[in-house]
Amino acid sequence: MSYNFDKIIDRKGTASVKYDLRNLIFNNPEVIPMWVADMDFETPDFIREAIIARANHPVYGYTFRSDAYHQSIINWLKKRHDWNIEQDWILFSPGVVPALNIAVLALTNPGDEIIVQPPVYFPFFTAVKDHNRQLVYNELLLKDGKYQMNFDQLEEQAQTARMLILCNPHNPVGRAWHKSELEQLAAICVKNNLLVISDEIHSDLVLPGHNHSVFAKINPALDSQLITMHAASKTFNLAGLASSSVIIKDQAMREQFKRLVSGLHMDMGNLFGFVATQAAFENGESWLSELLAYISNNISFTETYIKQHLPKIRVIVPEATYMIWLDFSAYGMSDKELKSFLIDKAGVGFNAGVDFGPGGEGFMRMNVACTHSLLQQALEKMSKAFSELFVE
Ligand SMILES: Cc1ncc(COP(=O)(O)O)c(C=O)c1O
Repeated sequence: MSYNFDKIIDRKGTASVKYDLRNLIFNNPEVIPMWVADMDFETPDFIREAIIARANHPVYGYTFRSDAYHQSIINWLKKRHDWNIEQDWILFSPGVVPALNIAVLALTNPGDEIIVQPPVYFPFFTAVKDHNRQLVYNELLLKDGKYQMNFDQLEEQAQTARMLILCNPHNPVGRAWHKSELEQLAAICVKNNLLVISDEIHSDLVLPGHNHSVFAKINPALDSQLITMHAASKTFNLAGLASSSVIIKDQAMREQFKRLVSGLHMDMGNLFGFVATQAAFENGESWLSELLAYISNNISFTETYIKQHLPKIRVIVPEATYMIWLDFSAYGMSDKELKSFLIDKAGVGFNAGVDFGPGGEGFMRMNVACTHSLLQQALEKMSKAFSELFVE
């Protein structure tokens, strides 16, 4: 390995949501933070150097996104996912969540039904409800330890719904949806003329041994119904730079999205976000493969440790993302009891499963994009707390 992911970076006092908001979120400033989806690793040198080089020019006036920036995205998607896109198809949004909201506003009407597949990343719910659209749950099925889509239910729901928000790969259950599953999904969407947002922010975090299937490549009949969202932010830990891409092939739909994002003046963006994105996509391949190996190792370590020391916890081993979805239901605690036990007795701060909607009861989401030593500490604290629970 040429990058050192074991290096401990003190993030406290950097206005870090993950570290500096612990007291606010967990009512405990000491909890080991394994919640919000960013990583404790340092941003790679080639990105820091690009930012510093631009920062050394003393004027930070209005900028635009260059051809080189767009080309870096085009080349990355071609190389990593064999997806051919054109520069015109790429629109900007200051984040994937803002883009979801804009897409809902631009392409649907109040009262429209929008399908989501819980347990899922919770801003999907607000992107629907906050704009007075109706949330429709197509809850995932957990069969033999593996999550699957409920196609039978979806067939029915798609008849009246206007849009589906797909999480591909899926946060928090960690599925890198298989091509055959996406083909089945695409057929339902085409048949029912259902608009689809495919949130592919985790697509570059597919773990060794698994593959990402770009939804846009599955079925050309979907071209006029599909919006894809992508970013360097999750992969290269740039969430604080607020930059993402919205990729729309269909010209009419692109214009609808663009009208709103430009009308709100949200497409101006952040100079350093563009510089970082371009540097990441131009230079990031070997860093990313080392990162994925490190995360994969953290996941295997967690799985083995839990099997040995905490066998009542069921581990849903992810195929993608640096999140592990853990089932604590065998302990028989309520969600409230589980949450306070983990915070107060074990000293670990996870995302509560219930926040991800139906199907999240009894679960927690654990973020393992941290040093191996911090992960070990967290697991040991959990093991100690649960062993004391049974002594009492
Ligand atoms: C599925 C998914 N979409 C979007 C985001 C966040 O996107 P952004 O920070 O670009 O708004 C996350 C962050 O965890 C996520 O998991």
